[in-house]
Parts: sequence; structure tokens; C-alpha cells
Amino acid sequence: MIKLNAVEKMTSEQKYKYMLILLEGQLSSEKNDLANLCNATAIIKAIMDRVNWAGFYILRGNTLILGMFQGLPACNRVEVGKGVCGAAVTQKKPQLVENVHDFLGHIACDSSTNSEIVIPIIKDDVVYGVLDLDSQEIGRFTKLEEKYLVEFVDILNKYIDWSKV
Ligand code: SME
Repeated sequence: MIKLNAVEKMTSEQKYKYMLILLEGQLSSEKNDLANLCNATAIIKAIMDRVNWAGFYILRGNTLILGMFQGLPACNRVEVGKGVCGAAVTQKKPQLVENVHDFLGHIACDSSTNSEIVIPIIKDDVVYGVLDLDSQEIGRFTKLEEKYLVEFVDILNKYIDWSKV
């Protein structure tokens, strides 16, 4: 169970470390990938403040299809190479976007979003999708968030069979 009172008093780095502990706890105690990915998005949303959307897009052919998420209804499909999500797949590296309005080709699912971070999900050199977070605050995501969200995806990769998601 998440102790939100304790989380409020933590530094950002403490929160993100706690987020990884919660994720390990979830994944090590449940085998169902659907349940695990749903709770993974809930863990991010509960721990990370000033995040208005957090979720997965799963790669099917050349299209990223909306997966489990927390937030407002979002774009169903993003083509590889399009938007921030598509760039993360093409470049196979995290995309840290301080101001989405400066990112050529950004796809706006929610007009109140101002910054975004996308981590590609790559296991054994195969790209399975992306983890995408949005914020209404310009510059919400930094190298600190990138570090811990990359670790978050590394933990997911230990447990999730992406080929069956
Ligand atoms: N902004 C993303 C699209 C997905 S939404 O943010 C949930 C993009 O440009 O790829």
C-alpha cells in the first residue's frame, strides 16, 4: 500500500526510489502483465507530482497503439517517426522535451500539456513500445526523471513479456 503522507515529505529523488520499490513489489507479486502494467501507470501517477498523463504505447508494426494509462483519453495511434513517441522509437533513446510547443511534429492529445518525456521500451534490441509522461508545467522533466524512468522501464523489462502484451 502506498503511504502518500510519507511521500509528500520526500525529495524528488526519494520519491523516485520509492516508486521503483513499489514497482518491484507489484511485479514480483503478480504474474499477469495486464494487471502489472495498469498498476505501473498508477504507481507513476500516485508518486510523481505535476504529471497529467502517464502511460504506454505498444508497437504493432509501424504504429504505436495506446496501452494502459492514467489521465485523459489520448490519441489512439502514433505512427513511428511521428511525434515525440515516434521519435523515441526511431532514435531508440529517451526524448526529454522541455516545451512541447518547440518540438516539431509534437502530437497534442491534451492541449494543456507543455512538457513531455518518452522512454523507449527496448529488450534484447527489440523495440516494444514507449512509456510516455506529460506535464502541464514547462520543464517538468529533467535528467533526474529520465534516469529513474529508464530504471523503471529496466525493471518492467525483467518481468513483462512484451511479445504477449
Ligand atoms: N504527445 C505524444 C502523443 C501521445 S500523448 O502525449 C499521450 C507525441 O507527440 O508523440
